[in-house]
Amino acid sequence: NLSEPCTWTGQFGWGTKEGHFSLPIGGAQIMRFRPRITAFLCQWCGSKGADMAGTSRLKYPSTVTPIRVPCTGRIDLTHVLDALTKSDGVLIGGCYTPSNCHYKHGNYQALKRVELLKVFLKQMGVNPDRVRLEWIRASEGKKFAETIRSFTEQLEKLGPLKTQEEAMPE
Ligand code: FES
Repeated sequence: NLSEPCTWTGQFGWGTKEGHFSLPIGGAQIMRFRPRITAFLCQWCGSKGADMAGTSRLKYPSTVTPIRVPCTGRIDLTHVLDALTKSDGVLIGGCYTPSNCHYKHGNYQALKRVELLKVFLKQMGVNPDRVRLEWIRASEGKKFAETIRSFTEQLEKLGPLKTQEEAMPE
């Protein structure tokens, strides 16, 4: 079923090339787009949630590259823009608002920066939905896995990030 995520690899000799998986069916090669996600995860909550998803053996697409940061407030807009040159979407996962950031206001700073970045992306012709900010507790492995799954589905609909203008949301 091609509408299902590909969760198996190897036995039919998959080839990977920049997030595309080749699936041989009846002798024909069908290319399936698998979006690459860069995930900036704060060391106290987001990355712990990812660890929890792993230790709980929850399944989620393997096309995510996690980058642990001290706090979401440490993430500069240039980090996200640079990540978008190498992936199709960026997830930022941090401590819950309002008061759970271990550095007090880092998550508020991230919230403000992401809102600003979305305006900027729109001006650049990039769909702002390619950047997602989520608050994920250390115990929320399930939420982390669900976030990666739903973000992957959303990016699959958007397609690969191109340099030309994308269709903007209304
Ligand atoms: Fe997690 Fe600041 S320490 S968002």
